[in-house]
Amino acid sequence: MKIINSDIQAIAVKPEQYPKDDLSEIAFVGRSNVGKSSFINSILNRKNLARTSGKPGKTRTINFYLINEEFRFVDLPGYGYAKVSKKEQDKWGYIIEEYLTSRENLKEIALIIDIRHSPTEQDLMMYEWIKSFGYEGIVIATKLDKISKGSLQKNLKKISEKLGMEDRKTIIPYSSINKTNLERVWERFKSLI
Ligand code: GTP
Ligand code: MG
Repeated sequence: MKIINSDIQAIAVKPEQYPKDDLSEIAFVGRSNVGKSSFINSILNRKNLARTSGKPGKTRTINFYLINEEFRFVDLPGYGYAKVSKKEQDKWGYIIEEYLTSRENLKEIALIIDIRHSPTEQDLMMYEWIKSFGYEGIVIATKLDKISKGSLQKNLKKISEKLGMEDRKTIIPYSSINKTNLERVWERFKSLI
């Protein structure tokens, strides 16, 4: 995919603030600090378009990125960060849910998982929810650069088993640092936009 331009189009916490055109959107969900914003930057070849942080809880709003004036990526706050108060977590949960359940532009949801760890109960809930709403749910296992080649298949097996996936080959392992499988990611996304 040739990225001609990419820019922030809107920052929202409620539907009135979402972009009003009918461009297709792909949204990114996952645990806080798993690497959603880094993934967006990496595949768009941008350093700081989406803000990232070593500390969980960086993204706190729904951020809409317009790409090639043609489609959008939507970066969502992460879930499951224990240090955020229950009240704050509930607020983000509501913001995410409202977007996911009401947005007609939304074509597909990518669930980002840390390739080093088993998915959490919240990941499983999210994955089942994605399926129940009729999305396929693209599972991207990121931070691939942090594991050895030898443990890849074992880790993918753990992830697919926890999520109850039929075929672990559909998981896309990715590294936002060295962009392994960048082409595979775009192949998958291109068919949606
Ligand atoms: P929230 O906005 O808090 O939900 O987090 P996020 O999922 O957007 O995570 P973010 O992209 O901010 O990344 C969190 C940390 O993981 C940062 O320190 C990133 O540099 C690091 N990180 C993300 N992706 C990768 C990767 O593929 N490899 C390595 N080594 N580090 C990564
Ligand atoms: Mg983020």
